[in-house]
Amino acid sequence: MTQDQGKQAVAEAALEEIENGMVVGVGTGSTANFFIDGLARIKGRIDGAVASSEASAERLAGHGIRVLELNQAGRLPLYVDGADEATRHLHLIKGGGGALTREKIVAAASDRFVCIADDSKLVDVLGTFPLPLEVIPMARAHVARELVALDGIPELRTGFTTDNGNLILDVRNFKILNPVELEETLDHIAGVVSNGLFARRPADVLLLGGPDGVQRIE
Ligand code: 5RP
Repeated sequence: MTQDQGKQAVAEAALEEIENGMVVGVGTGSTANFFIDGLARIKGRIDGAVASSEASAERLAGHGIRVLELNQAGRLPLYVDGADEATRHLHLIKGGGGALTREKIVAAASDRFVCIADDSKLVDVLGTFPLPLEVIPMARAHVARELVALDGIPELRTGFTTDNGNLILDVRNFKILNPVELEETLDHIAGVVSNGLFARRPADVLLLGGPDGVQRIE
């Protein structure tokens, strides 16, 4: 089974979480794109979608799916999104696509977060994938110094601006043994908009696609 087949399989499995009349929160990335394409087939059953990025909003609209602003939609029953790394504790690293802040907002505003990923994303300890931080441009150098003081090795994602007009620093070398604590520490650095650790609000369900089909962890 290829990685794409794993992504496709979990996207299909996530469609089964949808109930009639729902407004569905939709994530960003290649796995979320499989989910959006699947959503198109059942669009008559949902009331609309809230997207975590301009790219996903565009893809949803391209399928004729009604896209709502989060402020219009109120609290969402379900959010479906991918991850760059995931543990069995349902802690995640996200933001490989740079959409981490809106992803975190939509996840926070949702009753249930179903994370979908191919099984290469499952790790024992988070941190091999560089941790993305969204940073206000004027704070870039300050935040980078603070990250170095925490033993991180930050690198500016060049040629990239987030949907919110900010920068991304990708940070290597963190040993993330306590993701809840690190998430909080990073959020307290002035100039950090958000970081890609999803530990304080982890996933509720993790669907992993691999050669043995879809594994469900919750
Ligand atoms: C985007 C994300 C994605 O969910 C993450 O990067 C996984 O992407 P993919 O599904 O393409 O592997 O957090 O900001």
